[in-house]
Amino acid sequence: MAEVTHSTPPHADEVSSFLAGLAQFHLGPLWQVLGQQLTPTPTSRVRPHLWRWREIRPRLLRAGELVSAAAAERRVLMLLNPGLEGQVATTHTLYSGIQLILPGEVARTHRHTPNALRFIMEGQGAYTVVDGEKIPMAPGDFVLTPNWTWHDHGNEGTEPVMWLDGLDMPLVRLLEGMFFEPYAQETQPLTKPTDASTAEYGKGGLLPTWQRSTSPHSPLLKYAWREAREALMSLGTNAASPFDGTMLEYVNPVTGGPALPTMASFLQRLTPGQRTAPHRHSSSTVYLVVEGHGCTTIDGKAYEWTPGDVLAVPTWCVHAHANLSTHQDAILFSFTDAPVMRALNLYREEAL
Ligand SMILES: [Fe+2]
Ligand SMILES: [Fe+2]
Repeated sequence: MAEVTHSTPPHADEVSSFLAGLAQFHLGPLWQVLGQQLTPTPTSRVRPHLWRWREIRPRLLRAGELVSAAAAERRVLMLLNPGLEGQVATTHTLYSGIQLILPGEVARTHRHTPNALRFIMEGQGAYTVVDGEKIPMAPGDFVLTPNWTWHDHGNEGTEPVMWLDGLDMPLVRLLEGMFFEPYAQETQPLTKPTDASTAEYGKGGLLPTWQRSTSPHSPLLKYAWREAREALMSLGTNAASPFDGTMLEYVNPVTGGPALPTMASFLQRLTPGQRTAPHRHSSSTVYLVVEGHGCTTIDGKAYEWTPGDVLAVPTWCVHAHANLSTHQDAILFSFTDAPVMRALNLYREEAL
């Protein structure tokens, strides 16, 4: 091996011509980019952003007049992060959109590797079918269509139904794990009783003895609003988290882990006038305002919200919530990429 010595400093021209010659071999000097790569804390192009329900809703209904569910496959207005122009992404890992299904419509059957969750915002009479199980959906219900499960949606009611979709799509694309398949027919056969997963796994801590789901996602596919809200409201507020108020996670009833392997989902309550302490963590979050009027401060900027508004909080941004009402609770639904970060030992949290 040739010996390298530095007895005489190299001429600047020599260095720059050496560097210029590297690119043709697809080589590059790490020492020039080390500081940009190994940042002391996470850096993100994702920007905090609030989407207002009063701006989304009329446009979604207009989309309903202009585009059929059949033509659209899914009639959704995507919530596109202003810092990630050109990408279908709400944060760097999470995608969210608002879907509309009109009375009598069917959104055809398909499956894909991204996990999907839904939180029903408005309208009665819609359903989702997941792997042969029909799941009627009402406002406030939280419904899963996990990785590679066949799913279609329909509306048997008389009013438009709207819900928030949450998918790990940007993460799946980054990991190049995308698979998608349309079903041969528009709808799939119903092979299980309606709400079968609720009958089997939705009865508190009681689980069937003859089977124990080993799937990586929750075997319970719907978390009904009435029970979720009741569970949240029945808790005292004394022992609540200083950062999140009273917060419950929608868990896999078998493992106690997140409902989906890539996304954790939560319902939280802020009592009238409550202000949480600021913190930050290495997970990004999408919030949906379910009830109440409040404000979330993200890196010093205040975002005031009312029901139906959606808020993206990027990784490692300092954030704190406030319920601005003196008499009404605020309830937020949210989902995060924290399970992925924890699984990879990348999760960090800091109180400020
Ligand atoms: Fe889908
Ligand atoms: Fe947080």
